[in-house]
Amino acid sequence: MNVLLLGSGGREAALAWKMAQSPLLDTLYIAPGNGGTSLYGTNVALSPTDFDGVAAFVRSHAIDLVVAGNEDPLVLGLQNHLAAMGVKVCGPCKTGAALEGSKDFAKRFMGRHNIPTARYQSFTPTELDEGFAFLATLRPPYVLKADGLAAGKGVLIIDNLPEALKALQEMLQGKFGEASKTVVIEEFLSGIECSVFVLTDGHGGYRVLPVAKDYKRIGEGDKGLNTGGMGAVSPVPFADDAFMAKVEERIIKPTIWGLIEEKIDYRGFIFLGLINVGGNPMVIEYNVRMGDPETEAVMLRIDSDLLELMYAAASGSLGDRELKINPQTAVTVMKVSGGYPGSYPKGKEITGLAEAAALGVIPFHAGTKAIEGGAGVATSGGRVISVSALAPTLDQTLELAYRGVDAIHFEGEYSRRDIGQDLLRLIGG
Ligand code: AMP
Ligand code: GLY
Repeated sequence: MNVLLLGSGGREAALAWKMAQSPLLDTLYIAPGNGGTSLYGTNVALSPTDFDGVAAFVRSHAIDLVVAGNEDPLVLGLQNHLAAMGVKVCGPCKTGAALEGSKDFAKRFMGRHNIPTARYQSFTPTELDEGFAFLATLRPPYVLKADGLAAGKGVLIIDNLPEALKALQEMLQGKFGEASKTVVIEEFLSGIECSVFVLTDGHGGYRVLPVAKDYKRIGEGDKGLNTGGMGAVSPVPFADDAFMAKVEERIIKPTIWGLIEEKIDYRGFIFLGLINVGGNPMVIEYNVRMGDPETEAVMLRIDSDLLELMYAAASGSLGDRELKINPQTAVTVMKVSGGYPGSYPKGKEITGLAEAAALGVIPFHAGTKAIEGGAGVATSGGRVISVSALAPTLDQTLELAYRGVDAIHFEGEYSRRDIGQDLLRLIGG
């Protein structure tokens, strides 16, 4: 089987690593990939949103499966474009991708299918007064969300009403461009979050992947600016069988049946961003892809051939294929460029990757690229290397992961040292 994976982050490196282990794989191409994905396949200089370019590549390289790593091409309709040519895609059609591409669409979908989520209302620029009135009915903190994709920056959580009113006005006036021409205002939910991943075949078949917790803020204790994600742990102690049974009955099944009922062609990963409110799961957000950096932890816990499952999902028939989950604990810790998530330098040489790998960790490349005309790799992004480890217990895995983190070096490097500490406290009681 020839596979084209679209994307260039640590998530794509982890997906490539996993797919490369499949006996079904002939050739794996990653477009555009990064300085590490070439360990698992062939990097191709192609933009994931250049649909004509992707289509031409699919034809000329006899691609059997296209896997969308991130949401952008899906939201723009990649699946529709390729499915019309008879190409199998692991990823939903444009309407399905609106579960991530439009928060208003996602809230309406949840409303239609009685899926638990925060109470909300949506507002457009002509409804500013109604928006003010709705905010006044809520208690702080106030949650304001740009409807469209805003590079992970479109959610504001604001402590007082005057600031929330001001933020609403700014958003509707285009603070996040077109993305905030509709704003979803919702009730604030308090609880611990986790990420649940489901692979579905669009015909009622699905498998639930290992659950993970991601660490979003730049600073320890989850303080400071939001990032793309600084680390992840799987499993998540509070997502036990009782909690997951609720997730399955109240959220996963209604989502999958809702998509079928609405004739939305959805074959691929559904990422449920959940919050545990007093033992009850509620949906914070849908994403239409795997999480980053959750994937860099989750892939280590999948003992089955994921490529076989992804191909089956894209073909509409997961059947009774088994998804075998490893009971051990996986951790990933992100090493980032100094200054991230603000501005940061690029082109810093990365050393110690082989030493880290020799310890038994997997350094998944994210913002890296091969040094031109030389050996080795250099930094090319904010999130640089996601160091992943698997071991029997959380404390053993953390120890191993951080030995890997400490073996790798580049100028200005930073990582959070507290990944998993909250969960260790939870387990410790
Ligand atoms: P997003 O950018 O959609 O991932 O949202 C960013 C973060 O905002 C989420 O991960 C939550 O931590 C937080 N958040 C979003 N909606 C709510 C809500 N209704 N209540 C509490 N926190 C929220
Ligand atoms: N880690 C969260 C995300 O991928 O959106």
